[in-house]
Amino acid sequence: MNNWKHNHILDLSTFSLDDYQTVLELTTRFKDVHKSSSRKLPALQGRLITNLFFEPSTRTRTSFELAAKRLSADVQNFSVSASSLSKGETPLDTILTYISMGADILIIRHESTNVPADLANYVDKNNINTSILNAGDGYHSHPSQGLLDLYTLATFFNPSEPSTNSLINKRITIVGDILHSRVARSNLWSLTACGADVTLCGPSSLLPNEFIDFVLNPPPGQKIDPINKRGSISIERSLKHALKNADAVMTLRLQKERMKQNMLTDLETYHETYGITHQSLKWCEKKVPVLHPGPVNRGIEISSQLVEDNSINLISKQVENGIPTRMALLYLLGLNKNN
Ligand code: NCD
Repeated sequence: MNNWKHNHILDLSTFSLDDYQTVLELTTRFKDVHKSSSRKLPALQGRLITNLFFEPSTRTRTSFELAAKRLSADVQNFSVSASSLSKGETPLDTILTYISMGADILIIRHESTNVPADLANYVDKNNINTSILNAGDGYHSHPSQGLLDLYTLATFFNPSEPSTNSLINKRITIVGDILHSRVARSNLWSLTACGADVTLCGPSSLLPNEFIDFVLNPPPGQKIDPINKRGSISIERSLKHALKNADAVMTLRLQKERMKQNMLTDLETYHETYGITHQSLKWCEKKVPVLHPGPVNRGIEISSQLVEDNSINLISKQVENGIPTRMALLYLLGLNKNN
């Protein structure tokens, strides 16, 4: 924990193995807080945490809220429809209003890539002691989802001691609309950092060949990669081949709201070709868990039967783990606000 140096959490490309391990260990510690008699820890008492979601959200917003409350922080929630945005106020002025109210941690989701990073630059330049936590910006990044997925997988492979070592040489297949997915990008950073080999699977319209270069160069804006040796990334167009050797499968929603044009003509054919179902999972050499970040479109990227089969899917575990994972992130950012 002494090595923790991030004042903002914007993207997992800047995370070292120590950073991942710190989050995993803290998540394990926070997992049982709701079982204690008070259900809370006083760690962030008096701190103000602001949830600013300019895009719809069910899981992420409410689990950040619950995580903040479990750490005894005060929480403000911003909702677009009830705000002065409808009176013509710009998003920047809205954000600055919340900063002026003294937000210690500002959690932001926005459809435009780099809004969280621009905001972090702004507060740093103006010596404002507010930490920015990216809860999803455009296609770019969704660090808390990447970390809760990492925790869920590490716990699946190593229930007694989930750690960065739990993923070494594991083969994780991510299927679907990779192009528009900030979840896929954040998972690529975290999974390869922990030594997992990732196979991406989808049609070329939703998975361009350039993804193969994702981790070949230092992360954008950085001279060196904080990870010495990453796991590999490969692209496989055939679902049958992508599933064959997998140790776990993650499927993603078709993110139509982020598509510039309609990139798929026929959803039935998509489901037949790339849908994860009990039938397609027979291509796996062994029984493997299925993850999905939600929201799920039943009958498109995953069958309804599989969504309801929690002997195979880890969807509710992902939601459950989202709370202690986000407690860990808020705790780490809140550490430097206590003096
Ligand atoms: C994702 C998101 O918003 O990026 N959902 C989530 O946060 N759990 C994935 C999606 O929108 O499909």
